[in-house]
Amino acid sequence: MKNIDFAGRVAIVTGAGGGLGRTYAMDIARRGGAVVVNDLGGSFDGKGSSSSMADQVVAEIRAAGGKAVASYNSVATRTGGENIVKTAIDAFGRVDVVINNAGHLRNALFEDIDDGILDSLIDVHLKGAFYVTQPAYRHMKKQGYGRIVFASSAAGMLGNPTQAAYGCAKAGLVGLMNVLSLEGKPHGVLCNALLPTAASRMAGAMPAEQMKEVEAQLAAIAPLVGNSLDPSFVTPLVVYLASEACQTTHGIFSATWGRYARAFLNFSQGWVGPRQDAPRAEDIAAHWAEVENRRDIVEPAYLEDEFALIAKQLAP
Ligand code: NAI
Repeated sequence: MKNIDFAGRVAIVTGAGGGLGRTYAMDIARRGGAVVVNDLGGSFDGKGSSSSMADQVVAEIRAAGGKAVASYNSVATRTGGENIVKTAIDAFGRVDVVINNAGHLRNALFEDIDDGILDSLIDVHLKGAFYVTQPAYRHMKKQGYGRIVFASSAAGMLGNPTQAAYGCAKAGLVGLMNVLSLEGKPHGVLCNALLPTAASRMAGAMPAEQMKEVEAQLAAIAPLVGNSLDPSFVTPLVVYLASEACQTTHGIFSATWGRYARAFLNFSQGWVGPRQDAPRAEDIAAHWAEVENRRDIVEPAYLEDEFALIAKQLAP
């Protein structure tokens, strides 16, 4: 297997001042990539800001002989996103990789989520990825090469109580990845989404009750988990997705406890109803077992694939 390297490549890693993002930035730099270490430097719930987190990681990369510059912009505004990309172009002349990783967490039961919580989570996770990726994508499309990773979350793809706002922002990133991977593919720009699990500052901010439950589960299987909750166990998957070696696009990948897997959206064969007159709700109820039947499930890759699958079912 050829070594994966980033020689001549320029990567933007948002939220790279700590946690998972720091490990992505360090590993790409170690492999010869020039890195924009972006971090707003605030608290886990998105309050405050400082330059120290990004500066610290840039210093670590440079001390190890790597190339990096700091960016303190917030991803959560259009201007912030543009400035982050401008930092890459000004310092290194191009942008090949964007790892959309920045974010914060505010948990609350659905009935208690006010606009402050909702807006801050949509802004940083969903709009933030949009604002950074859009100006970067314009450069990638022109140069005919790019790799984009979106940090989604199982909280959005599978669900997690008290994370309705966070979960919908994170699930929204999969929608963005789905569309951009189709638009980007003819131009050599590949996009994938990540479902990570790691014991980071953000993971420590889970509701106390849930934290107790997770800790009890982990204590019961501690020898099996080993060190696999360390952020460094997520790094290799993300670095692979960000590299030229990766030729996959339009995928959702989980890195959890040192297990690396692809997640798929499957459809049942379903019930194909009448052609001329629309069925009634009672007909749906009568055929519910077929609607839900998991036998012979199928995985349409994109919208037209689903139409093709139904056409096949209808074919005489
Ligand atoms: P973290 O809190 O250690 O790292 C997030 C970083 O983003 C921080 O350094 C923070 O200062 C920075 N940041 C926050 N708002 C920013 C903004 N507006 N602009 C620029 N930087 C900003 O958290 P962690 O665990 O490393 O999370 C990284 C990503 O992975 C996040 O998007 C998170 O939602 C996602 N994730 C993490 C999971 C985990 O188990 N740790 C699970 C699922 C998703």
